[in-house]
Amino acid sequence: MMIYSILLGCAGLAAQVAAACSRESLREVAAAYVQAQAGGKPTLLSLASNTSYAENDKPVDITKGVLSQPITIDFNRSIYDTTQCATFTELTAATSKHPYVIHTRMLLNDDGSKVTKIESVVTDSGDWAFNATGHLYWTRQEKWEAIPESQRDTRAVIQAAGDAYLNQWGNSTLPVPLGTPCARLEGGAYTGQSNPSANTCRMGAFPQPLKVADRRYIIDEELGAVDIFNGFPWLEATKPNGAVPSTNFIRVERGMIRYIHEVTVCETPHCGR
Ligand SMILES: *[C@@H]1O[C@H](CO)[C@@H](O)[C@H](O)[C@H]1NC(C)=O
Ligand SMILES: *[C@@H]1O[C@H](CO)[C@@H](O)[C@H](O)[C@H]1NC(C)=O
Ligand SMILES: *[C@@H]1O[C@H](CO)[C@@H](O)[C@H](O)[C@H]1NC(C)=O
Ligand SMILES: *[C@@H]1O[C@H](CO)[C@@H](O)[C@H](O)[C@H]1NC(C)=O
Repeated sequence: MMIYSILLGCAGLAAQVAAACSRESLREVAAAYVQAQAGGKPTLLSLASNTSYAENDKPVDITKGVLSQPITIDFNRSIYDTTQCATFTELTAATSKHPYVIHTRMLLNDDGSKVTKIESVVTDSGDWAFNATGHLYWTRQEKWEAIPESQRDTRAVIQAAGDAYLNQWGNSTLPVPLGTPCARLEGGAYTGQSNPSANTCRMGAFPQPLKVADRRYIIDEELGAVDIFNGFPWLEATKPNGAVPSTNFIRVERGMIRYIHEVTVCETPHCGR
């Protein structure tokens, strides 16, 4: 009986260990994704037989999607979620024939050998505040370096900071842990342009409270970062009760938000505004 329970205990531990991917393997997967997008060759990724692929919250045939078109990528930034076996990558393509800013989350199987799900928010001309030249200019200047181990926040703290930012859109009196400095890059527009040492991330109340639903998280404690895919319920004037594809990519330092990158799709040019 005793031996049986020890064996069970070991099996449980082995299963837990197998469920976490190594950072190095996730780094390779994200690098392969960047290469795949640069060449328009999804086959550079190790895909499962049934990998799901979606752009802007709609399933797309991967051979007909953006990932199958070559794009000149000027800058890329990735984070690695070793707990969920998942990656997030931001691509800035300003000098490409067709400029884009793309946010992509990828989920892997338990041993990290196959990509099982790819979801992208793909923005280009006419999307919210879109300006790939501006995006490139500002993202290049930001520092998202590894956080010294003794100063790292837990997953829960990093997620809570991101959630607080979105929750405040539903109730403008809720507190948000914004640091000083703090800057937001919305499409290609930067709040930190005139005063880079200030907290310029504060938002006024929306005309009506917004419930930001369908949140999907990728979290990296080493880089202090979270990306939240979500449905943004206000921008589209023609779709006031619906939600448009959006993501917020957030850097957190000692529990406080340092950077926010929002990428949001408009279904009518400039969201009908
Ligand atoms: C894909 O295939 C794997 C292995 O057969 C299976 O476990 C998984 O549920 C499948 N996923 C989907 C979305 O069908
Ligand atoms: C992506 O970024 C890394 C540095 O983080 C760089 O080494 C690599 O060349 C970039 N890839 C492309 C296609 O720009
Ligand atoms: C895009 O951003 C660049 C760099 O900040 C700026 O020079 C340019 O005027 C912007 N373009 C538009 C259309 O706003
Ligand atoms: C908004 O947040 C405040 C502070 O937490 C809370 O007291 C209030 O009940 C909330 N209002 C709504 C409508 O949820």
